[in-house]
Amino acid sequence: MNNHASVPVGVLGASGYAGQELLRLLAGHPGASVAFATAESAAGETLEGFDLIKAADAPLQRAEIVFSCLPHGVSRRYVHEVRAAGRRAVDLSADFRLSAEAVYGLTEVARPRVAGADLVANPGCYPTAALLALIPLAQRGLIDPSREVVIDAASGVTGAGRSPRRELLFGEVSEDYRAYAVGNEHRHLPELRTTLAREGGFTGDLVFTPHLLPVKRGILETIHVPLTRVLDQATAEGIYDAVYDGEPCVRVLHGALPSLKDVVYRNRVALGVAPVANVRRPRLTVIAAIDNLVKGAAGQAVQNMNVMLGLPETTGLSC
Ligand SMILES: NC(=O)c1ccc[n+]([C@@H]2O[C@H](COP(=O)([O-])OP(=O)(O)OC[C@H]3O[C@@H](n4cnc5c(N)ncnc54)[C@H](OP(=O)(O)O)[C@@H]3O)[C@@H](O)[C@H]2O)c1
Repeated sequence: MNNHASVPVGVLGASGYAGQELLRLLAGHPGASVAFATAESAAGETLEGFDLIKAADAPLQRAEIVFSCLPHGVSRRYVHEVRAAGRRAVDLSADFRLSAEAVYGLTEVARPRVAGADLVANPGCYPTAALLALIPLAQRGLIDPSREVVIDAASGVTGAGRSPRRELLFGEVSEDYRAYAVGNEHRHLPELRTTLAREGGFTGDLVFTPHLLPVKRGILETIHVPLTRVLDQATAEGIYDAVYDGEPCVRVLHGALPSLKDVVYRNRVALGVAPVANVRRPRLTVIAAIDNLVKGAAGQAVQNMNVMLGLPETTGLSC
């Protein structure tokens, strides 16, 4: 347990959707205090009572841990500056998720590594839900590697960030529903493949298709899993129960399937399963729900910070 009453932390990119959520969580965290918060176009404004300064002016030395909520590509340089200043970092961007420089911070599977890490690469929102759904089955050799795992996922619009884009205008998104990054080329796929192979030993094909859902926050993933043997409902639920017993941020539903209302504003992944009838080869449908801004971003970053500081893992979080 860390003896500091309040550990100073910094937030780079605090004016974005992930950064705002992080400031909100840190404002209610009893063991952390915000030493600085940065913005680019919003520099000079005030948010959650903090004056937003330019990232280039951030007093990195004043923080013990610095969170980066900067865009991909921009984050790398600042995170290197944080490390050069001798400070620990949690990067919410994708810049270090495939890098040996960082520990991949899917907390439930990487807890001991996160505890000693100087740089944690916080997982992507879609991968967090999909990996917590698939790793238990993969570890038991239950996923048939000769057939594809198909992940159809729908995300609320905050997943796309706060920069204005025509296709994200209310008039375009409202009352509509559409797929994007079709063709299995979404940037989260390498992270999914690498982690599922490392943590679950599964190297078969994944087909991932994201959709844009006209809500502010939340992701629902429908995951079609080809099985090596038949699993009935109770057996499948029992596998998840055994793996996630005692995990505060994973909820396994029984005889029910999760929806967004089970997860929004919570640092939680909710999982439900249904064996698939009327097919010749065994298959399981797993439904995974997550709040993209909480367990999919800022909440998991705080969870990782708690582990890094030796604090109770759910401090400041509502799971
Ligand atoms: N949104 C999600 O659900 C989610 C989930 C998981 C991970 N992430 C990752 O978290 C990071 C932030 O995502 P977001 O959705 O919060 O993005 P966002 O809303 O676009 O926010 C980006 C932040 O970075 C700042 N920024 C932009 N360009 C900059 C530059 N050149 N130099 C310094 N600061 C700059 C922005 O400042 P101004 O706005 O003041 O210009 C803003 O504070 C991304 O890497 C994203 O992939 C997001």
